[in-house]
Amino acid sequence: MQFDVDLTPLTTFQTKSRAEAFCAVDSVEALASALSEAKAKGMSVNLLGGGANTIARAWVKGLTLKVAIPGVTVDVDDQNVCRVTVGAGETIDEVIGALVEKNLGGLENLSSIPGTVGGAIVQNIGAYGVEIGPFVETVTVYDMEEGRLLTLTQAECRFGYRHSVFKTPQGAGLVIVSVTLNLGNPKDWRPTVSYRAVEDALAHEENPTLTPAFMRTLIQGIRARKLPDPRVIGNAGSFFTNPVITTVHWRELISVHPNLPWYDLDEDHKKLAAAGLIEAAGFKGEGTETVGTYPHHALILVNRGGATGEEVERFAETIVERVEALFGVRLEAEPVFLG
Ligand code: EPU
Repeated sequence: MQFDVDLTPLTTFQTKSRAEAFCAVDSVEALASALSEAKAKGMSVNLLGGGANTIARAWVKGLTLKVAIPGVTVDVDDQNVCRVTVGAGETIDEVIGALVEKNLGGLENLSSIPGTVGGAIVQNIGAYGVEIGPFVETVTVYDMEEGRLLTLTQAECRFGYRHSVFKTPQGAGLVIVSVTLNLGNPKDWRPTVSYRAVEDALAHEENPTLTPAFMRTLIQGIRARKLPDPRVIGNAGSFFTNPVITTVHWRELISVHPNLPWYDLDEDHKKLAAAGLIEAAGFKGEGTETVGTYPHHALILVNRGGATGEEVERFAETIVERVEALFGVRLEAEPVFLG
């Protein structure tokens, strides 16, 4: 355990931040021992993976614990069903790259999403018509209270849109250590091409052969054209979730603001594109000295240089308030604030 540690390079938003204590653990044993040291010192514990969905405030009290548990094992059973067991600290994009190289498809539409496997599970990452939740067979967790390992099934993870049990009070004491993903029989793989941006990109390809590797390259291209690379510009991806409203509310809203983008969800609900609300509120490309929205995508908040978590939070709050005043819809932040 180290004390007074610079957290700035450990989150993709790269807010200026220091942790009271910090420890990176690469095994369950190291995790257990760091947790008992924190307990002995009376310190609270904050979990960190790749820091891709975390905004660290200036001072983070307690122990910040980076889960860096490695390992990738691929297993094909006698029914030809492919399972991959991955340590929570692996980088999700590297795992997807290695699977695709073996022609094992399923997760390729999630290519280029930053962060670790553990973080991917916590927030049930999704992109271009695919979410990770449906591939999860089991998740092995370390229960901080009980001091032992538990295995959760997919149903117990309670995956939803950018949601899982790990975001709720019931899951708060569980540290994800590894995940088993079921990719099914590789012969049954089909590309997921129903998303508008994917259809548009495919229309520019001549007679493409849709392999997992081809789809990964296609998705990497779509993302690179639209989203800022966190290695170059600090950001945490989409800053707000896309709000779901009732069809009744949507009808009123669209009658006054007919150009707001939305999607059908079910008979009683529509999903609004949060990016569209933020753009219509006049925030696209705007901001303060240190934080703003990305000029090519209004839903991405970016670090303009030297931002603190508090400044990010204040700017996000300004957006939330103006969007609510204009459209009667309250945006919910996607990233977790530390400190
Ligand atoms: N739009 C605007 N202004 C903009 C950008 C977009 O009005 O500046 C409108 C357009 O009408 C566009 C719509 O918003 O059609 C949706 O934009 P996009 O296809 O980029 O998707 P998104 O809803 O903004 C979601 C996920 C992304 C994921 C993409 C692709 C959420 C919160 N975000 O973004 O996930 O990559 O779909 O599937 O659901 C993330 O969670 O960090 C993330 C990047």
